[in-house]
Amino acid sequence: MQELFVEGGNRLHGELTIQGSKNGVLPVLAATIVCAGECRIENCPRLRDVDASIAILRHLGCCTRWDGGALLVDTTHMDKNEVPDALMREMRSSVIFLGAILARRGEAALSYPGGCELGPRPIDMHLAALRALGAEITERGGTLRCRARVLKGTEIVLPLPSVGATENAILAACGAEGVTTVYNAAREPEIAELQDFLNAMGADVRGAGGSIVTVAGKRALHGGTHRVIADRIVAATYLCAAAACGGEVRLLGVDPVALSTVTAALYEAGCRVESEADAVALQSAGSLRAIPPVRTAPYPGFPTDAQPALMAALLRSAGSTVFIENIFENRYRHVGELARLGADIRVAGRVAVVSGVGALHGASVRCTDLRGGAALVLAGLQAEGTTRISELEHIDRGYESIERKLALLGAKIGRREETLWQEQDETEDAEGEGFPSS
Ligand code: EPZ
Repeated sequence: MQELFVEGGNRLHGELTIQGSKNGVLPVLAATIVCAGECRIENCPRLRDVDASIAILRHLGCCTRWDGGALLVDTTHMDKNEVPDALMREMRSSVIFLGAILARRGEAALSYPGGCELGPRPIDMHLAALRALGAEITERGGTLRCRARVLKGTEIVLPLPSVGATENAILAACGAEGVTTVYNAAREPEIAELQDFLNAMGADVRGAGGSIVTVAGKRALHGGTHRVIADRIVAATYLCAAAACGGEVRLLGVDPVALSTVTAALYEAGCRVESEADAVALQSAGSLRAIPPVRTAPYPGFPTDAQPALMAALLRSAGSTVFIENIFENRYRHVGELARLGADIRVAGRVAVVSGVGALHGASVRCTDLRGGAALVLAGLQAEGTTRISELEHIDRGYESIERKLALLGAKIGRREETLWQEQDETEDAEGEGFPSS
């Protein structure tokens, strides 16, 4: 097992090109199987969740290989319809393969994706959308079996603008006869990215980014090339790090519009933010102030995935900030670990109140989930002394080498095999512990 160790106190400076989006590339990888052909996915991030998707593609009979920063996927010889339990357990968002397999093969099976650290994570809307298109879905012994002799275009109204359900509906609709219209579709930038990729394959998807998306199905599809958009949540994470630590950073390749609710919050907290066409720069004195209540909401509202990072940035702010988590039932699991570093956070249901403290102090903490783990790193960057962070598999699902990226900005952070925690000899230079020379 590996662990991060963070020496707090450094300001952050410099430029960073932001990695490809995890939540953008996962539906794109599922979309490659909608037709037989070769696809080239450029700017594909090296993440555990991408590895899990590659394992599923290979299990289904596809071939994949890396070509530098691009992932090549050949779905010509796909010969299976089922995602096995072990692979489903590796990544619950594999449910996104359901619609694509159904569109390609007319039948699909996968084990019921369990809940995760954030709560039960139901898929009722996914299944309702597939049934509306004509799929017969049975569930037996934890396995979902979907069969559709014919998928027919129809009107689908989502009760909530669910990202995954929108993506599954669009993917399945590509295999349906006629036009499908999805109402109350999610408006996240990753939906527009899926539309762009499908249309590069010859599909006819329109309206992504808005609440009504149409798909003209059964088009003659072929392999396509796509460049993955920058990860707006990773960008938000590094902006929050610089806001909390103080300094000046410039993130390249990002769409400032996709970050606007996060940069607005950091501006309120006292940072200076400058947006360019595909970059965002932030300056911070490192002493933030509390901000008005933060309510997470579907895009274009404040992203739930950035809630833990913003919370971490405000741990030493002047005053108290109220967070209201409206998307997931259980997205404050990082609070207990932040408290070990000295944070003052009170949670009652979906509400968390963060009261700034004078100082945080290094401690041993463990990641509870992907974004909560990143929040622990941000808290460690501010803490006096050294923080040890374990269970990094959560962070590695969505952040490409978080320690290397933050070290490039001047953070004192490194990764090593987990060891019993030995008090460091006072004379020993922390750098001797593998900290990169800053
Ligand atoms: C996507 O998850 C993202 N994951 C999540 O990012 C993100 O937090 C979420 O969208 C919201 O933006 C990927 O894209 C891989 P939802 P998803 O369906 O699709 C409820 C991260 O950290 N719901 O929009 O699962 C659901 O329980 C991850 O990168 C139903 O009730 O999210 C939740 O309360 C975490 N029934 C709400 O809707 C359904 O059938 C929004 O979920 C589907 C969802």
